[in-house]
Amino acid sequence: MELKKKVGYAAAELVKDGDIVGLGTGSTTHYFIEKLGKRIQDEEIEIMGIPTSYQSSLLAKDSGISITTLEEYSIDIAVDGADEVDNTLNLIKGGGAAHTMEKIIDEAADKFVVIVDDTKIVETLGAFPVPLEVIPEARRTVSEHVKKFEGIPALRMAKMKDGPVITDNGNFILDVQFKLIEDPAYLEKELNVIPGVVENGIFAGIVDKVLVGTPEGVKSIKKK
Ligand code: A5P
Repeated sequence: MELKKKVGYAAAELVKDGDIVGLGTGSTTHYFIEKLGKRIQDEEIEIMGIPTSYQSSLLAKDSGISITTLEEYSIDIAVDGADEVDNTLNLIKGGGAAHTMEKIIDEAADKFVVIVDDTKIVETLGAFPVPLEVIPEARRTVSEHVKKFEGIPALRMAKMKDGPVITDNGNFILDVQFKLIEDPAYLEKELNVIPGVVENGIFAGIVDKVLVGTPEGVKSIKKK
């Protein structure tokens, strides 16, 4: 938790007065949003947030960050977490089932900054299953499709509700375990053309910078 807090707080310092900020989802962005709220209060800067989920929207409100929409504004900077980051800054996201809105907002931002602790850094993506947001009626057919890519699908089940996880958009999540993903950009595109897939959790080639929380401090990795 301490590393997530450090990196979340460090990212909040990247935001400038007047910025429109994409607010990511998860336990690491929790600290980013919390610190951004503190900066707004302490420094009297004007910032508006565009949330990627109900979680980030509610937290932004609690933290005193005004909310707007993509319909109204373009995004200067988006800050978001990740489940895996490979050595060319491709990501797997969606551990919190929010990757569809996250991809829309993160991709639209002028600058996309990822915040992780050092456990998320991998050589090649694929130990973490790739989440697919799926229209409920397409669960079986999408499951059959992903087997062609040697994927093993599992319907994500809810913890405090009977039955499957339902996303903020009213859909199911299929977590697909692949072998190591040598070409994330290819797999990202192939998964998204399966009928019934709304969005998958591979984010290839859109990251500008990754801040990594390590016991030695926060390290920055820029896109090459
Ligand atoms: C939300 O669906 C995810 O993409 C999260 O951003 C990702 O799982 C990282 O979450 P943590 O910061 O909680 O590890």
